[in-house]
Amino acid sequence: MNSTPKSVSKDQLNEITQSSLYKAASVARGNAYAPYSNFLVGAAIECHDGTIISGCNVENCSYGLTSCAERNAIFTAVAKGLKNFKKILILSDAETPATPCGACRQVIVEFAPSIEIISITIAGKVIIETMTNLLPYAFTPKNLD
Ligand code: THU
Repeated sequence: MNSTPKSVSKDQLNEITQSSLYKAASVARGNAYAPYSNFLVGAAIECHDGTIISGCNVENCSYGLTSCAERNAIFTAVAKGLKNFKKILILSDAETPATPCGACRQVIVEFAPSIEIISITIAGKVIIETMTNLLPYAFTPKNLD
């Protein structure tokens, strides 16, 4: 797997940054509660029916209780009866786009092994990935059969 930000064309970048998915992630990022890391993350999921659900990271003074933007978005979607996910966009502000942490990868693959993952920084660096690349040989619900 190549984790170097891919160079997307200017048109592709514009398409991403003008999308409803990006806007939803950006609004959610504005609500991130990250007083300990100061690392604000917004995530937005596009469901197969077109619905967009967002989430932000929520930290806690008991640091280990922190929940990432991706998981918060997924759990909100599930609470709304949505489990069929097409795309997730993650927006952060760092040198390199933030790819989902291990815990989030496991939560994403539970529902959406074929999801498209777009991670983008405020400056416009982009990583577009698949779950197969992010979590090879994943333990999935099929393993319980
Ligand atoms: N974080 C996310 O919300 N998503 C990621 O993809 C990477 C990390 C959060 C967790 C914590 O609140 C902060 O970013 C620093 O790790």
